[in-house]
Amino acid sequence: MKIPQLLCTFLFFLLFISSISIAKKSLRHYPLLLPVFKDEITGQYLTQIYQRTPLVPVKVTVDLGGRFLWVDCENDYISSSYKNVPCGSTPCKLSGSQGCYGSSRPIPPRPGCNNHTCSHIPYNPINSTSTDGELAQDIMALWSTNYNDSKIGHLLSSASGVMFSCCEDFLLQELAYGVKGMAGLGNGYTGLPSQLARAFRLPRKFAICLSANTKSNGVILFGEGRSVYASNDALTYTPLLKNHVSTAGAYYPGEPSVEYFIGVKKILVNGKIVPINSKLLAINKTNGVGGTKISTVVPYGTMETSIYKAFKQEFLKAIDKVPIAEPIRPFELCFNLLNLGTLTGLIIPQVSLVLQDDQNNTTWDLSVDNFMASPVDSSDLLCLGFLDGGKFPRTSIVLGGLQIEENLLEFDLVKKRVGFKSLYQSSLLKCSNKFSFTSKA
Ligand SMILES: *[C@@H]1O[C@H](CO)[C@@H](O)[C@H](O)[C@H]1NC(C)=O
Ligand SMILES: *[C@@H]1O[C@H](CO)[C@@H](O)[C@H](O)[C@H]1NC(C)=O
Ligand SMILES: *[C@@H]1O[C@H](CO)[C@@H](O)[C@H](O)[C@H]1NC(C)=O
Ligand SMILES: *[C@@H]1O[C@H](CO)[C@@H](O)[C@H](O)[C@H]1NC(C)=O
Ligand SMILES: *[C@@H]1O[C@H](CO)[C@@H](O)[C@H](O)[C@H]1NC(C)=O
Ligand SMILES: *[C@@H]1O[C@H](CO)[C@@H](O)[C@H](O)[C@H]1NC(C)=O
Repeated sequence: MKIPQLLCTFLFFLLFISSISIAKKSLRHYPLLLPVFKDEITGQYLTQIYQRTPLVPVKVTVDLGGRFLWVDCENDYISSSYKNVPCGSTPCKLSGSQGCYGSSRPIPPRPGCNNHTCSHIPYNPINSTSTDGELAQDIMALWSTNYNDSKIGHLLSSASGVMFSCCEDFLLQELAYGVKGMAGLGNGYTGLPSQLARAFRLPRKFAICLSANTKSNGVILFGEGRSVYASNDALTYTPLLKNHVSTAGAYYPGEPSVEYFIGVKKILVNGKIVPINSKLLAINKTNGVGGTKISTVVPYGTMETSIYKAFKQEFLKAIDKVPIAEPIRPFELCFNLLNLGTLTGLIIPQVSLVLQDDQNNTTWDLSVDNFMASPVDSSDLLCLGFLDGGKFPRTSIVLGGLQIEENLLEFDLVKKRVGFKSLYQSSLLKCSNKFSFTSKA
């Protein structure tokens, strides 16, 4: 019995040593980049990953709170490096899967259709549709960067496979034209940030900076990407909160949410506290209901009905000189700027979120562009960029695309915090200014 024990000790020792050298290497690693474009028609944030052997570009919608990458395997999936994840294997267990595909009749194996394969639940939150998909892995490549001159380098391929879910094409419903899946950046083992950190030896963090302009790209930077845009102390941080109950459309019993929840303590309009039931702001430990999350799959933020009503009321009180207009869908509160004489006289109230902090509460003063929107077909209107989320939403407050555009957000999965900085006030720096893909698109 002694020999196996010794062997184990020796193996652990080896692992320990090798993980140190990995950590050293990661310090020298530049962040890897995905360009992000806002689709003009759907408002979805799209990126293009490179996957398979030979590498092909695959257009996907960015889902900040998605479990993993999922792609359509029913059409044109050709790759010599595709591998299914077997049932009961370590990656299968760590993915949280509780499903296994089997077949008693012989089936010709192909991507998405192998016997004895770990299955998971890909989810399309835009269409609210879930299905079952084969868990697989394949080579993935991203753009390398260089901090100093902000140059985009070459495509860097993963040495090993990156896990994803291989599913049928009906799950693509409601996604933008040409899109073949969704890139899930969720905070779990199978989320792209953790997987890419393992595959490329990067620190387990990523930065996201979405461009408000459909003509120029924003970015997602995996690894130490924040410093490309801002110094450490220029960001304001708030803890990432754990929600122990999955917020996906379908999930395995006991599966936690991989979405990014933060602690909004108060909403302020011109410094005045919006009166809301604070119970709604907390995440219920039993059923995961409540709280505040950040999402890239809703274009405008939402608030539970009673919060929305109270917020709207405070907002109307603060803006009382501006005539209210017939709202244009999807907005619920619009103002008419047509007969206002001069726009300089228009004073939009300040909207702020008081956020949980370890010691002090921090205040996120939203830029006007992060809560007011101009409808595409009416330049005379200015509308409130928050919508009524209904009476019984899963999550009380959702900060959507409008709320985070032109903000640098740094998600640090090790320190369990998110840092943010608005780039709207900066005349030079916008999300699109550092790495431009416009000439290539
Ligand atoms: C599928 O895998 C199971 C378990 O390994 C095995 O019993 C079964 O025979 C396989 N089916 C086919 C068609 O190979
Ligand atoms: C999902 O898409 C299908 C087809 O476009 C549509 O019929 C269905 O209503 C959509 N569901 C939701 C929840 O949007
Ligand atoms: C980037 O610039 C810093 C400071 O100028 C320098 O110390 C560092 O070596 C540079 N890195 C590369 C890869 O050029
Ligand atoms: C949390 O949800 C459970 C189950 O729905 C409910 O019984 C409980 O009262 C809720 N807790 C709070 C603090 O709202
Ligand atoms: C909290 O606020 C106090 C007073 O403004 C300040 O001295 C302290 O450094 C702050 N602590 C943190 C962690 O920001
Ligand atoms: C932070 O906000 C919460 C909720 O409003 C409050 O109970 C707490 O006292 C505040 N903490 C500090 C240090 O201001």
